[in-house]
Amino acid sequence: MELHTVILAAGQGTRMKSALPKVLHAIAGRPLLGHVVDTAVALESERIHVVHGHGGDRVRAALDDPQLRWIEQAEQLGTGHAVEQAMPGIPDPAVVLVLYGDVPLVTAETLRALLDQARDGLAILTTVLDDPAGYGRILRDGDGAVQAIVEQKDATDDILAIREINTGLLAAPAHMLRGWLSRCDNDNAQQEYYLTDVVALAVADGCPVSAVAAADPVEVSGVNNRQQLAALERAWQWRTAERLMTAGVTLSDPARLDVRGELVCGTDVVIDINCVFEGRVELGEGVSIGPNCVIRDSRIAAGARIEAQSIIDGAFVGPDAVVGPFARLRPGAELADRARVGNFVEVKKSRIGAGSKVNHLSYIGDAELGAEVNIGAGTITCNYDGVNKHKTVIEDGVFIGSDTQLVAPVTVGRNTVVGAGTTVTRDAGPDSLVVSRTPQKTIPGWAKRRR
Ligand code: UD1
Ligand code: CA
Repeated sequence: MELHTVILAAGQGTRMKSALPKVLHAIAGRPLLGHVVDTAVALESERIHVVHGHGGDRVRAALDDPQLRWIEQAEQLGTGHAVEQAMPGIPDPAVVLVLYGDVPLVTAETLRALLDQARDGLAILTTVLDDPAGYGRILRDGDGAVQAIVEQKDATDDILAIREINTGLLAAPAHMLRGWLSRCDNDNAQQEYYLTDVVALAVADGCPVSAVAAADPVEVSGVNNRQQLAALERAWQWRTAERLMTAGVTLSDPARLDVRGELVCGTDVVIDINCVFEGRVELGEGVSIGPNCVIRDSRIAAGARIEAQSIIDGAFVGPDAVVGPFARLRPGAELADRARVGNFVEVKKSRIGAGSKVNHLSYIGDAELGAEVNIGAGTITCNYDGVNKHKTVIEDGVFIGSDTQLVAPVTVGRNTVVGAGTTVTRDAGPDSLVVSRTPQKTIPGWAKRRR
């Protein structure tokens, strides 16, 4: 079966009250339309056709993906008209799946069940709602066979009482759909070409129409306003939390987790509240993440501990290392086994060797630290001269006293000790003492005389 997926995304989304096209609003950091495209890709669509309208250029630019075929629907004349715009690019033997760009949480599993029913007839996805207001209703005959879909605005009171509704998503063989669409008209309350009219046309042709029920209403919920956007964000996050817990992750509160990308966890990972994960993050076995951490595109190896309020971006944290509280690892930070980076320490594009410690109030940038190095509080690698960046090398076993500035490029050799308050401007070591300090002056009785 050759599958062609058509994603309807031409609607304006006025109720979002936004300058951003509706389908570019994000759930879990990815545009609504991106989620729908991901699902179409998971279904192995031969081609994905996106019908766009308002804000089309922005939408195209945001979802720059060679798998997509973009079709402009200049005037929004209805869902049937929208699908028709895509049909010239779809061959007769294909099966067409229609998705909505603003219904982001439908699963590939549900759609596979729909497609199974669409090999030689029309299959529509329906659900039953307590409050069906606004939706098209599913009309069945005495034997329960689907007869038609009637839009809210065209419905009689009897029909309005029906709680089984049209989600809008459907599938059918291309040659059949093409025929039905050519016969749709706009003789209805909204003067639109309704995609839903294909149901009655199929019935008239004696073609089988199946209704597949979506088990979870969240799957077929659309986004029309910011409240619905927020609700689907939470639903998505809940799904992610469920998946993580099933895989053996402890979440202090699954309602206070935000994964905006891919989070891969080993067993016995513990994640405290209010953490945000972005991009691809890997947490090894037994890793613990304290509250309020933000971690993006990073790998944290087994046994490492990230304490509260730490920000980690583009970094690698080695096995059993400890980071934070209040630490910031920027891109290119690499911590070897058992390394420690403590509070108010910023590390950028630097390697911290095994067992080395940078515990308090320091900036380590463009540096290479060997093993078992101790960096005192307030130490700064002066890596930038205003024009270029330079490297600091601190070899194994070095002890740097507090409040030291290392003016790069500079190397401190193995096991050297640098006295507190030193400004290191030239290479030094190994096995040496480096001190640069104004000698201390003490004037006895001075303070007493001043009073
Ligand atoms: C549609 C269905 C209704 C169903 C409901 C589910 C029709 C006639 N009605 O109604 O039975 O219960 O969805 O949410 O199909 N779009 C275009 N071009 C257009 C019109 C719409 O691309 O000319 C897109 C919209 O961006 C949206 C989707 O199609 O993604 C649905 O359009 P919308 O106007 O929301 O349809 P409803 O009237 O809600
Ligand atoms: Ca809608």
